[in-house]
Amino acid sequence: MTLPFDGAISRYVQREAPASLRATIARSRRGDILDPGYPYIETMPRKVYDREMEALQIELVKMQAWARATGTRVVCLFEGRDAAGKGGTIQRFRMHLNPRNARVVALPAPTETERGQWYFQRYALHLPAPGEIVFYDRSWYNRAVVEHIFGFCTPAERALFFTQVPDFENMLVNDGIHLFKFWLNISRAEQLRRFMKRETDPLKQWKLSQVDVDGLSRWDDYSAAISETLERTHSIAAPWTVIRADDKKRARLAAIRHVLHHLRYDRKDRDVVGHPDPAICGGPGIWY
Ligand code: ADP
Ligand code: MLT
Repeated sequence: MTLPFDGAISRYVQREAPASLRATIARSRRGDILDPGYPYIETMPRKVYDREMEALQIELVKMQAWARATGTRVVCLFEGRDAAGKGGTIQRFRMHLNPRNARVVALPAPTETERGQWYFQRYALHLPAPGEIVFYDRSWYNRAVVEHIFGFCTPAERALFFTQVPDFENMLVNDGIHLFKFWLNISRAEQLRRFMKRETDPLKQWKLSQVDVDGLSRWDDYSAAISETLERTHSIAAPWTVIRADDKKRARLAAIRHVLHHLRYDRKDRDVVGHPDPAICGGPGIWY
């Protein structure tokens, strides 16, 4: 079987990636954190993670029961570079929830008809009904970053997006929707390591796309677009929560804790929920 991106990532790493990146990846062992700016040098021990995750899962179940009983609507939106761990984090949130009231929205590229609609329209279609928690795996922020970098939208369309997004989000929040916006941040070396794993693992191949391959050389364009977006769309009503996601385990725990911490559900165990680790989870200030 010929795999769709057979070798494209490793070829990039061998031939084009900066030598220092290549060396970092080659030297790394399982469990090493590759980002020198990360506050930990190793990923969280599995046992600690499993114990904390299990306790948080119980809290999530209570939270969902409360949301259903009270008709609360929750949106958790996940952004981040390719391979930042958006899908995996969403999976952990949903693991023990009733899937009927905890939906994932991962929209494909817009169709011709959708392209002619108001940009937010197809996203708005999936907003939660009472009692629902909706997870957006990528979101309307595509326009600010991916579409911009690949030329899928015009500069005028992007400018309009930036004027409309605060109003759009304010409307959701004023209507009573709990809106959580997460930006998962990974280092370049970690992204490459994950891509290489996806390339050789037949079960992970589906996660690779042409956009990922073409995006490899556009790291700096992404960085500029991301920092601009965080700066322009961080508001009191709809703030960003940035998570340093080189360690998937710590990232998932922090995201779940953040949501549980902010919702006032019944029978909350405050000792279990605690606070997200401030070293890896905060406002746009911790993005770099
Ligand atoms: P993902 O990382 O979500 O698996 P990709 O890396 O392939 O997906 O694409 C990144 C994002 O860019 C996706 O949300 C996809 O819908 C979007 N995208 C891809 N092609 C286009 C296009 N022609 N116009 C607008 N958006 C697109
Ligand atoms: C992620 O891992 O961040 C996404 O869910 C998948 C991807 O980036 O391709």
